[in-house]
Amino acid sequence: MDTKKLLFNARAIHAGSEPDPTTGAHVSPICRTSTFVMENVEKAIIAGYGDVEGIYAYTRYANPTIDAVQRKIAALENAEACLMAASGMCAITTSLLANLNTGDHLVAGNTIYGGTFAFIKNIIPRFGIEATTVSTTGDNIENIRKSMKSNTKIVYIETPCNPTLGITDIKKAAEIAHEAGALLYVDNTFATPYLQNPLSLGADIVLHSTTKYLNGHGDVLGGAILGSKNLIHKIDGEFMKFMGGIMSPADASELSKGVKTLGARMEIHCSNAMKVAKFLDNHDMVEKVLYPGLESHPGHEIAKKQMKNFGGMMSFNVRGGFEAGKMLMDNVKMISLATSLGNVDSLIQHSASMSHASMSKEEREAVGIADGQVRLSVGIEEADEIIKDLDQALNNVKKALNL
Ligand SMILES: Cc1ncc(COP(=O)(O)O)c(C=O)c1O
Repeated sequence: MDTKKLLFNARAIHAGSEPDPTTGAHVSPICRTSTFVMENVEKAIIAGYGDVEGIYAYTRYANPTIDAVQRKIAALENAEACLMAASGMCAITTSLLANLNTGDHLVAGNTIYGGTFAFIKNIIPRFGIEATTVSTTGDNIENIRKSMKSNTKIVYIETPCNPTLGITDIKKAAEIAHEAGALLYVDNTFATPYLQNPLSLGADIVLHSTTKYLNGHGDVLGGAILGSKNLIHKIDGEFMKFMGGIMSPADASELSKGVKTLGARMEIHCSNAMKVAKFLDNHDMVEKVLYPGLESHPGHEIAKKQMKNFGGMMSFNVRGGFEAGKMLMDNVKMISLATSLGNVDSLIQHSASMSHASMSKEEREAVGIADGQVRLSVGIEEADEIIKDLDQALNNVKKALNL
């Protein structure tokens, strides 16, 4: 069956989930092996390259269970090829290093996941690679053009971005990158392939922390790199094989299961998030809600153009600043105080004291992270339960701080 022609949910369920060819098992058993016995030396030589599907030598090069989840995620991102990694950070660092050399320059958004920001700011300069970080959201897209140099090889964006939910126009970013002969990388973790397909908008490489929505249940770390066969072949054959950060077959199997329900989960994440955003927008303890689904959000129009819906992530500024934001964390009951996102259960974190504590107040404010800002990953519990929990927690903070 050609799964490419199926609608999204059918593709998520059937692509890469063929019955086991040897036993007929409906769900293929996990191929838990480090090495493979080969028929003869000729096949061993081919297998050693690790790039002929169906011929295997060693799991760090290729493995059937990992191949299967790669086919599934590639089908959802309309990508020619996909390469799994041990974590989202591993996907990001390996794919960047594969296309950068000493003397090259990179332009990146200035509001991106903290780990990616640290890698770009602190690690790649040690290898003689220069980086410029600028705001790329909304009209600031022209900052990318202004930052391009003759040696710029990659433009790197995240949209919606972490944690302020800023939206960058992917099509325009791709045009600017390509005019200068650079590649466009897009971290699509917040949107997921259900809501946004950056490759179809001109991106060259799409990245995911599959730890988040793609798996959805918070029990497996992982990353995915997607793009053309040529680009992925280069990242795999020249880098991943030797950097070694592959996904384990057991995690690949778990992830395959999670991805099957991505579309169904995202529908609930999105409708819950819209209800929660509207509730927060009207709460007297909330100064500002950052959710691309609200018309007041500066990226709303671009999000409407390039996303199918607005996702399950939002940030909001609690009245009362740092103390109030922190205190809210101790007052939620059902919602978990946890730093990840994209799980079926709702997760909350206070950006200034947690994920962005390493930045100064001035640095945080420059990128829109207020002292009282809280990031919420809206789960798929009933929206009324999420709202009830937030309401009692906000009212407790109001009372405790006499606001
Ligand atoms: C947008 C985004 N990209 C990448 C990562 C890194 O993923 P991982 O934790 O799987 O390494 C994260 C982690 O929170 C993230 O939020």
